[in-house]
Amino acid sequence: MPHRRLKVGVTRKLPDTVEQRLAALFDTSLNLKERPLSRDELAALAQDVAVHAPTLGDQLDAAFFARAGGRMKLVANFGAGVDHIDVAAANERGVIVTNTPSVLAEDAADMAMALILAVPRRLVEGVRALERGAFAGWSPTWMLGRRVKGKKLGVIGLGRVGEAVARRARAFGLAIHYHNRKPINPHIEEELEATYWPDLDAMLKRMDIVSINCPATPQTHHLLSRARLAMMPPHAYVVNISRGEIIDEEALADAIEAGRLAGAGLDVFEKEPRPNARLLAAPSVVLLPHMASATIESRIEMGERVIINIKMFADGHKPPDRIILGLE
Ligand code: DGY
Repeated sequence: MPHRRLKVGVTRKLPDTVEQRLAALFDTSLNLKERPLSRDELAALAQDVAVHAPTLGDQLDAAFFARAGGRMKLVANFGAGVDHIDVAAANERGVIVTNTPSVLAEDAADMAMALILAVPRRLVEGVRALERGAFAGWSPTWMLGRRVKGKKLGVIGLGRVGEAVARRARAFGLAIHYHNRKPINPHIEEELEATYWPDLDAMLKRMDIVSINCPATPQTHHLLSRARLAMMPPHAYVVNISRGEIIDEEALADAIEAGRLAGAGLDVFEKEPRPNARLLAAPSVVLLPHMASATIESRIEMGERVIINIKMFADGHKPPDRIILGLE
């Protein structure tokens, strides 16, 4: 049933079908320009609506919630990660925060798997060599990478996306290892033949490829610190499709330049949209512009989750994708 009197403010241009559906259901204010709102615009929107629908890049910090006034009751984020939202500050003011988990997990895992293949097999280096005319014909010793099959993959954060990465990786013959706060469901662990490492440092010392799939929180900031990167074997690779802040990028660049790590595949950076210049220049590093969830299907389904959360809230129920602090 439409809730035409419920005021919903959307901060960024969304796929047309999502915007049309939002506008049909609610009293929706859309941002039709491909431009993020300023801090003042975000706060002004919050003062005017019951539901704020922000996305990655919008900073909803404690100062934002202090300026929001009492009208806004739900922040329905378009995206899985909520590290740009101060959920504690929201909850203190009685504001519920929701996200869009699950729907992007498979597409994000595809991108992680693409990087797990691309970096050891030097895919992008090969494309670049061909483009600059450096291919002189097949050679027994040119462009040798490392075999993927049989290697140990250490997943940091075996949640929805991490599990989808592990399933793909198993099909490519990788052995699955993981570090979480707690072991996963034993049936899934058995199915994946996954080895649980309660001690991250111990796992890192033994892995050939490490895939970061945990959320960015104060606890995971620089989880792959200089000290931890130094524990990894020099033939190891790092793949990150989660958040840039989880890796100490300068330390990663130092390790790769010094040959203390073999390479990296990164879809996310510490200071987006600016990639680290040293990582950008490193031949054994593949950088992508935060596009792991960038499929039409994911973005439409993310919009549908936003709508479901708003509708449940409007009907007086608990929205299904509430962020519960400590469980994120
Ligand atoms: C998310 O949903 O948080 C993703 O990073 C966007 O791709």
